[in-house]
Amino acid sequence: MLDVTDLSVSYGTIRAVRGISFTVGKGELVSLLGANGAGKSSTIKCIAGALKAAGGSIALEGKDITAANPEQVIRAGLATVPETRDVFPDLTVAENLMLGAYIHRRDQAGNRQNLEKLHTLFPRLAERSGQAAGTLSGGEQQMLVIARALMARPSVLLLDEPSLGLAPAIVERIFEMIATLKQSGLTILLVEQNVNQALSVADRAYVMRLGAIVASGTADEIRSGSDLSAHYLGG
Ligand SMILES: Nc1ncnc2c1ncn2[C@@H]1O[C@H](COP(=O)(O)OP(=O)(O)OP(=O)(O)O)[C@@H](O)[C@H]1O
Ligand SMILES: [Mg+2]
Repeated sequence: MLDVTDLSVSYGTIRAVRGISFTVGKGELVSLLGANGAGKSSTIKCIAGALKAAGGSIALEGKDITAANPEQVIRAGLATVPETRDVFPDLTVAENLMLGAYIHRRDQAGNRQNLEKLHTLFPRLAERSGQAAGTLSGGEQQMLVIARALMARPSVLLLDEPSLGLAPAIVERIFEMIATLKQSGLTILLVEQNVNQALSVADRAYVMRLGAIVASGTADEIRSGSDLSAHYLGG
């Protein structure tokens, strides 16, 4: 579904991602783990079309999207929830959600149907439809940005640290929701520092350190890998 091959990302002379390769199969939930500065967000931004690749390639369902811009990537079927969790604060929850449906703006009936589905998944957002997004709690804003990404009706969803800075009970809810999305057949790439939570929902995982992939395997293999904490904490 998503094939990343020998991908490199640079900021001037800083090489943040150094030729990494990984795959996410159809319907799979794959987690990308690693300490601060490992290169996880740079990888996500590059796949999303927000950063140019310095080398390598990215394919979605066999189609090369390496040089695609963010809108082209979304149209190809891949939506991203960045770690910045940006909502349009002065717009309502409903207006924020409709912005996520931009590429389907001529299909209002389809958008309404999709919105209803998302309201079932996120009842809290349904209750707060008319509220300014900037006044939502951190957890509600995270749910809003995930729901907004889903309004694009993607086949692949990239999530960059959805649990960052949220209270344990909310993190629990977010991960339950991610598991529900996986059950619905969505293909997911989940970036997390919360290793235990990520492995509890992931089929497979890759561990990044200093721009490279240093370990990979099934969630069980990664969990039992004695070298994981060394890689992980080594930053
Ligand atoms: N805009 C930028 N300009 C220069 N260097 C950058 C920029 N963004 C990231 N970097 C560097 O690239 C490296 C990887 O950063 P990245 O944000 O991809 O890591 P990360 O794994 O997402 O970390 P975190 O868990 O803290 O979010 C870091 O060394 C970082 O300082
Ligand atoms: Mg990051």
